[in-house]
Amino acid sequence: MSQLTLCFHDDVTSNKEKIQRIFIEYMRNKGVFKNKAVLDENFLPDELLHRDREIQRLVQILAPALRGYRPSNVFIYGGVGTGKTACVKLVLKELDEIAERENLPIKTIYVNCKLKKVADTEYRLLARLLHEIGIEVPSTGLPTDVLYLRFFKEIERKGLITIIALDEIDFLVYKIGDDFLYNFTRINGELRRAKVSFIGITNNLNLFRQLDARVKSSLSEEEIVFHPYNAMQLKDILKQRAKLAFNDGAITEAAINKCAAIAAQEHGDARRALNLLRLAGEIAERRNSQVVLEEHVDEAARKLEIDSVSEAVRSLPRQAQAVLLAIIKSTKNKNKTTTSDVYRKYRDIAMRSGLRVLTLRRVGDLINELALVGLVEARTISRGRYGRTREITIALDEPAKDEVRRLLFGYFM
Ligand SMILES: Nc1ncnc2c1ncn2[C@@H]1O[C@H](COP(=O)(O)OP(=O)(O)O)[C@@H](O)[C@H]1O
Ligand SMILES: [Mg+2]
Repeated sequence: MSQLTLCFHDDVTSNKEKIQRIFIEYMRNKGVFKNKAVLDENFLPDELLHRDREIQRLVQILAPALRGYRPSNVFIYGGVGTGKTACVKLVLKELDEIAERENLPIKTIYVNCKLKKVADTEYRLLARLLHEIGIEVPSTGLPTDVLYLRFFKEIERKGLITIIALDEIDFLVYKIGDDFLYNFTRINGELRRAKVSFIGITNNLNLFRQLDARVKSSLSEEEIVFHPYNAMQLKDILKQRAKLAFNDGAITEAAINKCAAIAAQEHGDARRALNLLRLAGEIAERRNSQVVLEEHVDEAARKLEIDSVSEAVRSLPRQAQAVLLAIIKSTKNKNKTTTSDVYRKYRDIAMRSGLRVLTLRRVGDLINELALVGLVEARTISRGRYGRTREITIALDEPAKDEVRRLLFGYFM
């Protein structure tokens, strides 16, 4: 190391020197990443591994568009991070390329219905579709009938085979119901030159089940299921991405294997595996390590776990948050508690923070809901002739519990 580092002693250095030292050290290290952007959520790799079968099916379903026929509608489902979005985007990209080369009237449109202000109203979605075919409309004000009409007129005029991918389609159904899909399926039959096909994508089958039966059967003329990846497959995916993301020798095989193993245990989710890898790399850099090690992956996994727990807590209704805080308080210095204990604490918290005080029974329900999302465990045990009681424990490890406590104290105390 240079003299710079040697002449510094923590107790005598000024802020200026400390700051400069960190910057200089940062500059001197080349870090572990060579291209961190390839670990971004939205990065689309050219090669998708272990999805040949699914890709091939989708290609075969869409291919009739090249001869001017309407491709069947496809419904694609499978767990989070199983490559649904990536595969659909890749296939549409190739279809666009070939259509352009051959000068064919094919238009593919990809819409992520989960994004804010895209598919939360029928109007917005139609405006978006119109935008995609080159027509701009004011952001509010026209009757939706007019928008439908403009859309169909324009694609009819151009004789377009229009393939619309609705990703996270359950959000669309949840927000605007199935009218939109119904209107489209209905009008489709009246088109002469143009054709419209849908690719519906979701990881939530429950919401899909609520669709109008006609819409549902029309939307799933074909179905493709995406299964979770196993640890071996995740390892291949991570290795391929790590080669692009990290400097030579900056990541160990053991670290990659660990990311794969952790993600395989939790639903075979490639997104989670890649997040772990990115976060492990960031942690390695922060520790000034030139190599990403297993211990960095462990730390990354803990951090992700804490993040997902605090996200779950933040999205709870306020009453449920109060109940959770009551459980945390009444399990202080012991690991289990009872409903009546929780209720007493809950009442204090509710009264102090101006919440309406719910009945014991309602609080019992909320405890069940907390158990459902995995934040607490509630077991009913028999106490012989004293009847039954419930044993409630917090289902989190210490660091996660600390984080939740910190959050909830911020809200209520
Ligand atoms: N087979 C694969 N090969 C390479 N990367 C993949 C593969 N499957 C998924 N990924 C990556 O994992 C992440 C999640 O995939 P995504 O397609 O968004 O999953 P889903 O839409 O099923 O939730 C993305 O960053 C994607 O690029
Ligand atoms: Mg997706």
